[in-house]
Amino acid sequence: MTTKIMFVCLGNICRSPTAEGVFRGLAGQAGLNVNVDSSGTSGWHNGDLPDSRAMAEADARGYDLSGQRSSQLKSQDFHDFDLILCMDNSNIANAEAIRPDGAKAVVKLFLDYVPNQPLREVPDPYYEHNFEAVFDLIEDASRGLIADLS
Ligand code: 4NP
Repeated sequence: MTTKIMFVCLGNICRSPTAEGVFRGLAGQAGLNVNVDSSGTSGWHNGDLPDSRAMAEADARGYDLSGQRSSQLKSQDFHDFDLILCMDNSNIANAEAIRPDGAKAVVKLFLDYVPNQPLREVPDPYYEHNFEAVFDLIEDASRGLIADLS
């Protein structure tokens, strides 16, 4: 059975679309069938393309984010996805606030999949401009997640 995975951040224009694109790319290379999506807790950027800085860094590393448009996490997603992987603890709090009764989804931090990583949260590059470091973290976590699912 294919695990359904939703990546979540605040705006769904920087970290979670990056996670979706990087994870999809690396899982494809690993021959793993995946069902993956991403969303933001805020809805502030609904319909927008990923941030141009994320798209440029993705291009440089061979990933494609251009088919993605920002959307907001919704209660139904807790029924439709097995794993909801959040970039930081505020995303977890905002996500859990809309969990419907009886929904199956497990909510975790994405960096839980990186052993020996002292950082627990993916920093927000929208404010910190550190897209390269964020991509490095997201590649590490994607490899950890692929190993866990394989
Ligand atoms: P993201 O970054 O949560 O990684 O997509 C942000 C994008 C936009 C905003 C904040 C964070 N914003 O305030 O519009």
